[in-house]
Amino acid sequence: MRVFVAGASGAIGSRLVPQLINHGHEVIGTYRSPGSAERVSRLGATAVRVDLLDAGAVRAAVLKSRPDAIIHQATALANARFGRNLDRTFAPTNRLRTEGTDALLAAAADAGVGRFVAQSFASYRYARIGGPVKTEEDLLDPAPVAGTTETNAAMRHLDEAVTAAGGISLRYGGFYGAANDGLIGPVRKRFFPIIGNGEGVMSFIHLDDAAAATVLALEHGGSGIYNIVDDEPAPTRVWLPVLAQTLGAKPPRHIPAWVARLIAGEGAVVMGTESRGASNAKAKRELGWSLRYPSWRQGFIAAYGAVAQTDARRADGMASIAR
Ligand SMILES: NC(=O)c1ccc[n+]([C@@H]2O[C@H](COP(=O)([O-])OP(=O)(O)OC[C@H]3O[C@@H](n4cnc5c(N)ncnc54)[C@H](OP(=O)(O)O)[C@@H]3O)[C@@H](O)[C@H]2O)c1
Repeated sequence: MRVFVAGASGAIGSRLVPQLINHGHEVIGTYRSPGSAERVSRLGATAVRVDLLDAGAVRAAVLKSRPDAIIHQATALANARFGRNLDRTFAPTNRLRTEGTDALLAAAADAGVGRFVAQSFASYRYARIGGPVKTEEDLLDPAPVAGTTETNAAMRHLDEAVTAAGGISLRYGGFYGAANDGLIGPVRKRFFPIIGNGEGVMSFIHLDDAAAATVLALEHGGSGIYNIVDDEPAPTRVWLPVLAQTLGAKPPRHIPAWVARLIAGEGAVVMGTESRGASNAKAKRELGWSLRYPSWRQGFIAAYGAVAQTDARRADGMASIAR
């Protein structure tokens, strides 16, 4: 297939392009920052610069590329600063998930593109009732806390618009596996605490496994929603100390919910104490997906173990120079 990948230069896009090419697909990869062109070309794709928020430019690029399929992986979260108000941090990404998705779907309709796959998100979205692990059939949070309503609405828009158009929405877990993963800095500096009872459940996914599932979804076709997460949704009190240890950092701090509410806001408290994880049973069953890193336990070591060892060796070296 000729596959138009929007966001080919990004964290997931850059893992996805080589896997698509390995599967015999031809890739047209979009980027937005001028410096990303070479990166996309080096991955083996035809690089095209497009701003997804310019619907006319999106239409022109898609018509010119004549793809059989479109995959939407554009977000704007690299180097994002996470504060009390998640909607503020996610505002550019929310536009890519609403306006950007609509522009790509309109272009797909005009160009007669038969397949459409888009990036959605699984963690922190399901209703905070019942068991800790949710399927695609389960209710989404009907009352997201203040400061997260626009972000939740944007993801819901993407899920609904894509499936209504006959495409696939992939609700990924929290991505990890890249050198600039957003979690590394805060966990190293002990800025990411266990809040209250630490029972908020997170679902993770290694970027390589996320890319593999995306290729399978593309080739499977049809319409639907899939959770693309690993086998071990886990409470913060379980996964966070393991991540800190793997990074060679000190154990995470514990703070009471009321203190976290004052410092980081209600959204952080809900994520840390009430959020639900997601089940990958449907993706395994229908897409024939198997994971290279079935749990973040192996994945964190594969992604960060070497980095932590290098840092430890560097620290030893500095200590012996000082001696
Ligand atoms: N994806 C998530 O839901 C999520 C959630 C929380 C944290 N994070 C963290 O965020 C970091 C990665 O950020 P990311 O997921 O946003 O990926 P990214 O690596 O920033 O990639 C985003 C892709 O979208 C493109 N893009 C951005 N704005 C665009 C626009 N207006 N029009 C067209 N394309 C546009 C980028 O192009 P250029 O590269 O050319 O700019 C890039 O190809 C990781 O550390 C990850 O852990 C991600």
